[in-house]
Amino acid sequence: MSEKMTYKVLKQEGRAKRAVMETVHGTIQTPVFMNVGTVAAIKGAVSTEDLEGLGTQVELSNTYHLHVRPGDEKIKAMGGLHRFMSWNKPILTDSGGFQVFSLAGLRKIKEEGVTFRCHIDGHKIFMGPEESMRIQSNLASTIAMAFDECAPAKAERSYVQPSVDRTTRWLERCKKEMARLNSLDDTINKQQLLFGINQGAIYSDIRVEHAKRITDLDLDGYAVGGLAVGETHEEMYHILEETVPYLPVDKPTYLMGVGTPANILEAVERGVDFFDCVYPTRNGRHGHLYTNFGKINLFNAQYELDMQPIEPGCQCPVCRRYSRAYIRHLLKAKEMLGMRLCVMHNLYFYNTMMTEIRDALDKGEFAAYKKRKLDGMQRIVY
Ligand code: GUN
Ligand code: ZN
Repeated sequence: MSEKMTYKVLKQEGRAKRAVMETVHGTIQTPVFMNVGTVAAIKGAVSTEDLEGLGTQVELSNTYHLHVRPGDEKIKAMGGLHRFMSWNKPILTDSGGFQVFSLAGLRKIKEEGVTFRCHIDGHKIFMGPEESMRIQSNLASTIAMAFDECAPAKAERSYVQPSVDRTTRWLERCKKEMARLNSLDDTINKQQLLFGINQGAIYSDIRVEHAKRITDLDLDGYAVGGLAVGETHEEMYHILEETVPYLPVDKPTYLMGVGTPANILEAVERGVDFFDCVYPTRNGRHGHLYTNFGKINLFNAQYELDMQPIEPGCQCPVCRRYSRAYIRHLLKAKEMLGMRLCVMHNLYFYNTMMTEIRDALDKGEFAAYKKRKLDGMQRIVY
């Protein structure tokens, strides 16, 4: 593992950690927010060239979506996902586990894996740990995620315990298959990393037991999954407090699918250093913009003649040039450019917040920074 990557914790403040990770596709400074491009595209017509100007460190794509279209074998034939989408920095691929459970129609879970219907044309697909690893190996992402089951937040213990046990067995199969794939001559990225995923819904004891078991498997990093799926924010923070201490501090700690700027600040405080979420892209497409004084809705009439940038002082490529009034007009006229500019500002906001978090941790001032940032964002009530 040592030659595949290095991960060094540079600084800690309480549980919060500031780290640097070296991968075959470059350096990742953490805490980091990975920008979501599910189908190898950031929704809102944002290009990989744009990402370079927005401070994006890691792009995130999805195993399930790319398997269905255009097909992972085709992407492999074209040299892998990095070449296909022209992005030469790190890429993390989610395993398909979560998408199978959240998107696909009728599904059947067995020990071997899951059979489900494709969300595009309804044809039957089987995916298990080996299939997920093979697809991710074909995509040749920097970091592959384990194939897991994400149980609903409100699931009963009697459902969650056997599900988590199966996810552990799936993880052992993922590890074995990834090692085999990484040793094959025609594998594009023989240094592909594998992160395990902690599950257990809102049951702390199941989470802790699972965290211990997967830590023993000595993977390249660890995610906490199955959160932000219907539980309250307080429940999520509590689970992180209980679980993260049982994951290795000297490996990446990734909270999947989270969240609001406040969620991220709270999770950093609890020891998480990798994040991803659709909020900045999805909200941007609806004209909802993140600023240091709160979230604003550009469709509001108050911005009709407002010639200020989205956020005065913001150094993003959008705020340096365009006004609220113009972007509001584009959104109302349903011009693609409107969405694109909003998504770009939002991604810059998230990426810049992560830079601020890292700077604050470097100075040992994270607690003060967090309070200032949270207070500031509450100036507008929404
Ligand atoms: N994305 C958000 N939550 C999850 C999860 O629990 N598992 C996986 N694979 N992806 C996720
Ligand atoms: Zn901006």
